[in-house]
Amino acid sequence: METNIDWKNLPFGYLKTDFNIRAYYKNGQWSKPEISSDEHMPIHIAATCLHYGQEAFEGMKAYRGKDGKIRLFRWDENAHRLQHSARGVMMAEVPDDLFIECVTLAVKKNERFVPPYGTGASLYLRPLLIGTGAEVGVKPASEYTFMIFVTPVGPYFKEGFNPVKIAVVRDSDRAAPQGTGTFKVGGNYAASLRGVIKAHKAGYGAPMYLDCVHKQFVDEIGAANFFAIKDNTYITPKSESILPSITNKSLVHLAEQMGLKVERRPVDFNEINSFEEVGACGTAAIISPIGEIYDIDKETTYKFCKDGKPGPISTKLYETLLGIQFGDIPDPYGWVTFVE
Ligand code: PLP
Ligand code: COI
Repeated sequence: METNIDWKNLPFGYLKTDFNIRAYYKNGQWSKPEISSDEHMPIHIAATCLHYGQEAFEGMKAYRGKDGKIRLFRWDENAHRLQHSARGVMMAEVPDDLFIECVTLAVKKNERFVPPYGTGASLYLRPLLIGTGAEVGVKPASEYTFMIFVTPVGPYFKEGFNPVKIAVVRDSDRAAPQGTGTFKVGGNYAASLRGVIKAHKAGYGAPMYLDCVHKQFVDEIGAANFFAIKDNTYITPKSESILPSITNKSLVHLAEQMGLKVERRPVDFNEINSFEEVGACGTAAIISPIGEIYDIDKETTYKFCKDGKPGPISTKLYETLLGIQFGDIPDPYGWVTFVE
């Protein structure tokens, strides 16, 4: 059945699709995946995800190529990061084979929602792992649910591949250095909401977080990693409190292949002015060039993309990454898996 979706103007938001996939962990074992058309799920009032934040999620996309085929990008990295998050908040891990079985089902059962090639849109997949067993004491649940819903999306920042504006936020942190920053758990996003709203109220697209201890080094940007280009070098923060981005890891690789040097190191905020290009990267954000960074506390603005256009290296990285994801250029790295 056809849809009447306006693919070219899709926001990054929830749109109902046909099915979601669920699997249940009980008595030390995972069930087979179940296909559901219900957008709701019954949940025990004492489930640990509701009270003690036992939950983790992933974000990945399925892309339709010119050949009509549907591609996943580095799904194994998402599976492994979900396992890392599960260990981080003491949940049962979803094995790779169950993860990819559920991902494949979620895409195939909602195939009519995979946006057509050339629209710039893709199908966003949201795998979610939650503690569903009842506990009142603070301890891990013995039962878990893994589910995946999908929704067709456009770019996360309304600007698309055009410069976005970012505001530095110092009066809240999303995660502590030895806390949950490297895990993709909901609590980090709850903690980021104060910063997100503060940035939005100031007229900016997302908050930039600095390290929690010194407020000196760049951590990350809302729901995306930070990168900068200077002297033919791709620079990105090394920090214990940021999410290890799969997009960033891929850009590091592409940058090396393009002959750039790569530095993963603490990035002092005082260096900002010396960068030739700066950007945010992530599955949802793709590559979003940053045109302006506003330091709210110091009332100082740093400007990039002075001609209003993304820089040449960000553009080349963007074109190469999307080219591989949509199948326009060869994938020499084995990053793409077809959904068949
Ligand atoms: N940082 C945060 C806090 C995120 O939520 C995301 C999104 O997943 C990223 C970075 C980018 O990670 P990835 O490229 O794996 O999507
Ligand atoms: C993603 O890029 O997949 C994310 O998870 C960002 C999301 C929190 C909006």
